[in-house]
Amino acid sequence: MALAVKASERAYCPYSSFPVGAALLCADGTVFTGANVENSVNSLSVCAERTALFKAVSEGCRDFVRLAVSCPKAELSSPCGACRQVLFEHAPDMDVLMAKSDGSVVRATVRDLLPYGFRLQPRGP
Ligand code: THU
Repeated sequence: MALAVKASERAYCPYSSFPVGAALLCADGTVFTGANVENSVNSLSVCAERTALFKAVSEGCRDFVRLAVSCPKAELSSPCGACRQVLFEHAPDMDVLMAKSDGSVVRATVRDLLPYGFRLQPRGP
C-alpha cells in the first residue's frame, strides 16, 4: 500500500485532480506500480490499476498475488468497472487491497468485485 500511495504522487490528472496509485505484486516478488494518466480526450485516459497491470504483462509477468490501490481523495479506493474487467482477465482470484480515508484497508478478491465476470475462452498464446 505504501508503494501505491507513492505511485499516486506520479499521477497525471490535470482534468480530474483525482490522483490514484496502484501497486501490483507478482509471484516472483516484483512489484509494478501505476498511476492514472489522463488525456484531453477523456476516453483515452487510463486508470492506475490498468497502468500497473499493463506494465507487468508487457514485461512478462502474468502471475499476480495482490494489488493495492490508493486514491488519497477517496473515501474508499475502489477500482472502476473497466479495471475490474481487465483484472478479471488476468487474475480473478487475486486479492485487492483498497485504502480507506480513515487509514484502514478493505480486502476483496477480483471475483468479489466482479461477480459473474465475463471471459472468452482463450484460443492462442
Ligand atoms: N481512476 C483510476 O485511476 N482508477 C480507478 O479505479 C478509478 C478512477 C482515475 C481515472 C481518472 O483519471 C480519475 O481517476 C477520475 O475518474
